[in-house]
This record gives sequence, structure tokens and C-alpha cells, in this order.
Amino acid sequence: AEEKIALKERIRKLLKEREAVLVAHYYVDADLQDLAEETGGCVSDSLEMARFGRDHPAKTLVVAGVRFMGETAKILSPEKTILMPDLDATCSLDLGCPADEFAAFCDQHPDRTVVVYANTSAAVKARADWMVTSSIGLDIVAHLHAQGKKILWAPDKHLGGYIQQKTGADMLLWQGSCIVHDEFKGVELELMKAEHPHAKVLVHPESPASVVAMADVVGSTTQLINAAQNLDATEFIVATDNGILHKMRMAAPGKHFIEAPTAGNSATCKSCAHCPWMAMNGLQNLADVLESGKNEIFVDPAIGKEAVRAIDRMLDFAA
Ligand code: 13P
Ligand code: SF4
Repeated sequence: AEEKIALKERIRKLLKEREAVLVAHYYVDADLQDLAEETGGCVSDSLEMARFGRDHPAKTLVVAGVRFMGETAKILSPEKTILMPDLDATCSLDLGCPADEFAAFCDQHPDRTVVVYANTSAAVKARADWMVTSSIGLDIVAHLHAQGKKILWAPDKHLGGYIQQKTGADMLLWQGSCIVHDEFKGVELELMKAEHPHAKVLVHPESPASVVAMADVVGSTTQLINAAQNLDATEFIVATDNGILHKMRMAAPGKHFIEAPTAGNSATCKSCAHCPWMAMNGLQNLADVLESGKNEIFVDPAIGKEAVRAIDRMLDFAA
């Protein structure tokens, strides 16, 4: 515990010395989330992380999250230095959508508007017309559908399927998924709901359709935290990465949060309901990168220039 306090103190000092700001996601270690908040950085969902990083005057951003979040920050602010505690922190959605295969898929469907999820590489974003996050994907696809556009969607099949069902849009889906959310199971959730008849169910839309079907609220991490705070209930079942529970408990003290069941609460699943890549962010490697300046994120400027269009479209739409 003493070591932890010392590390946190060192990080606070290094952030000041480097004039750097910490931008964290709700799935990372609770200590990092708290540090981000108390030092004038931010802890939020992917959309807010992107906007905060773009608008903050700091020359250096330290992104505690996964690689696509650091890349998005770099694409939006090529002049800033972007550091990450661990450059190997990736995402199964990004891994499951290689840029060359994705480009070939797009080439086969030139009549479709290409909408990609934020959880992709810079090269995939460069090929897209729009980038969206879970907080705004539904609204953007509804907008495109109203204009009569047909959509090519990648990479998350569950989020894509949910948006398709909600909007009625013509969507061709890439078949990617998030290894964390994919583990939530509808049948087990139904049993849990029966045991907790008054609980409200909060679901991230990267979860399978059978889980989303039982939700009282479907939304991004920020939207789920707001729901926990605002809904008139005292008990909640939460189907998303359990890193979110730290903020939920702070935002809604006195309320009770239960993790939704996964297939794994067993030997087959080592990291159920917690993203192994988000978990690579810690106090020690955060302090180390602040000290050394290593682990800088670079995006090929030519790719960045292409990718920024899709991101700016979303940010303009959200504004
Ligand atoms: P949010 O944009 O909802 O924070 O989601 C990001 C993510 O990676 C979810 O798994
Ligand atoms: Fe990717 Fe899933 Fe981890 Fe989010 S939780 S970063 S979608 S693997």
C-alpha cells in the first residue's frame, strides 16, 4: 500500500513536470481512473476520450486504455506527443479486422457507405466514410438510413446487428466480436434476473443479441454509468467489463451492482468480464513511460490524414 502511494505521488509529479494530461477509459485500473480525474485529465467513454484529447491544450497526452484510443488521439492531434503505458494493449475487434482484408471487402461493395467502429486500426479508419463509437453509432446510422444510404459496417457483429435491428437500415456486417462481451450469456442472465426481479439490466451493445434483448438500458460506458445514477432502482445487473463498477459505485452510492453472468465463471475463462488488454495499464508502467517518454504512439501521417475525415464527421455530428 505504501508503494502504491509513492507511485501515485511520482505520477502526479511527472504529469506536472511533463505538462502532460492523463486520459483514461472506465475499464482500466481504478487507481488510474482516480488519478486521471484528480489531476485534471479525464475518465470516460471512447467518444469523450477523443474529444477531450483533441481539445486539451497539453502538449503530451498519456492514454490509459487500448491502442486504438491512443491512435485516435494522435490522428486528431498529430502535433501532440501521445504516450501509452503498454503499446501491446490491443483489442480483439481491431485484431479481427486487418486493413488489407477490410479494403478488399469494401472494394466488393462500392455502393455502400462505410461505417467503422472506433475499435479499429488507423488504416481501417482511413478507408471509412464514418467512424462511430458505441454512444453515437445508432444515431449516425439512423441519419444515414434516412438519407437512403446502404451501410457496410465493421467490425463488431453484435453492435452492428443491434443497430440494424433498431434502425432497419440495410447493413452488411463484418463478423468481428469483443472477447469480453461475447462471454455474456442470455440463458444465465435470465436465471439471474429471476433471482433479482427488481434489478434493472444495463448492457453494452458489444454483447450478444440474447443479452441485449433483456436490457433495460443499452449504451456506451458513459451512458450506462448515467443510467445507474439516474434510474429509479437500487439494484442493477451489469453486462460490460467489470472495470466500470468502480465508477458506477462512486456515481451511485448506496445502489447495488451485480456482474452479469459469463459462460466462464469457470476454468475455461481466465479473464471473464475484464479486458486483458485494458488490464495491461498499471501504475508502474504509467510512471515508467512518464519518466522515460518511451511508448510513444505514431501514425503514418498519410494514413492519419485519410482517417481524420471519418473521425471528424462523427465529432461534427456529435457537436
Ligand atoms: P465505450 O466507447 O462505450 O467506452 O466502449 C469502448 C470499448 O472498448 C468497449 O469495449
Ligand atoms: Fe476491445 Fe472488448 Fe477490450 Fe473493449 S473490452 S477494448 S472491445 S477487447
